[in-house]
Amino acid sequence: MDLFEKTFKQSMKGTTPLLDKITYFIVKQKGKHVRPMFVFLAANICGGITERTYRAAGLIEMIHTATLVHDDVVDDAHLRRGFFSINALWKNKIAVLVGDYLLSKSLQLSADNDDFDFLKILSATTKEMSEGELLQIEKARRLDIDEGVYFEIIRQKTATLIASCCACGAASAGGDKELIAKMKLMGEKVGIAFQIKDDLFDYEAQSSILGKAVGIDIKEKKMTLPLIHVLGKAPRSEKKWIINIMKNHNEDAKKVKELIEYVKDNGGIDYAKQKMMLYRKAALDLLDTFPDSESRKSFIDLIVFSTERNK
Ligand code: IPE
Ligand code: IPE
Ligand code: MG
Ligand code: MG
Repeated sequence: MDLFEKTFKQSMKGTTPLLDKITYFIVKQKGKHVRPMFVFLAANICGGITERTYRAAGLIEMIHTATLVHDDVVDDAHLRRGFFSINALWKNKIAVLVGDYLLSKSLQLSADNDDFDFLKILSATTKEMSEGELLQIEKARRLDIDEGVYFEIIRQKTATLIASCCACGAASAGGDKELIAKMKLMGEKVGIAFQIKDDLFDYEAQSSILGKAVGIDIKEKKMTLPLIHVLGKAPRSEKKWIINIMKNHNEDAKKVKELIEYVKDNGGIDYAKQKMMLYRKAALDLLDTFPDSESRKSFIDLIVFSTERNK
């Protein structure tokens, strides 16, 4: 990871003073780097880390960074990684273009190295991520999301990228088609658990520890699993109360707090946690089919971390 971080910083450098200032800001406010860790661990259990593994890790972290820059524009979020977001500091125009720049740069990086297998995996992934974010907006406007659609959204917007980490990691280690597909499936399960955890943070976490705003999902009319579950079993009058808050009082801090308390009191959090653990178990079961090794142990730790982390 030390070597990765050095090369990643280098590859993020911008070509104009403004770009360079912004990309410098981004790498300074660094994230947890879980996606590169998935790439390295996947490569490790599939035959061993190669030079290409480093390229896959950098490529994916760059794509991830680009999508976060865009996501904060979409969600109108002003806090990211404990500091102001790019859109908060430089406005939407620049954030949109910086996201585009990073995305194209990452694709160029793999084309330049003839990493066409990565390119094939990741072009499908970024397309799906956009579809997921768009489906989410569509559902926020209509407020007609159900559990099935929720899982489809989080699979598309988050799980596909983590699935690609595992697939590219396996590919970089020379894994065959079957192995790559198995790793991809495992990554998808972890990715779904990862996003359920993220959605739980919006109800439970402290903004100062998390480094991003909490409670903004309701503000953005985003219904996530805890809320979808309690809405589904609420009596009619309470359903009306919930929808009314989502529709008309989503920016009223006091009402939003009441709704959050309602979700907690009615088992929404417990239900989401239970689902998250089911996906975590599915991932661990797939991992169990690999022979025991140090890297498998670390992989288990990373999956557990994905669901027990506090930021
Ligand atoms: C945030 O991802 C976006 C989601 C898919 C939930 P991370 O929690 O990995 O963000 P950083 O990179 O560590 O900041
Ligand atoms: C994940 O969704 C965003 C992406 C996959 C880009 P969120 O909107 O919940 O992520 P955070 O909470 O802003 O990091
Ligand atoms: Mg967001
Ligand atoms: Mg979130």
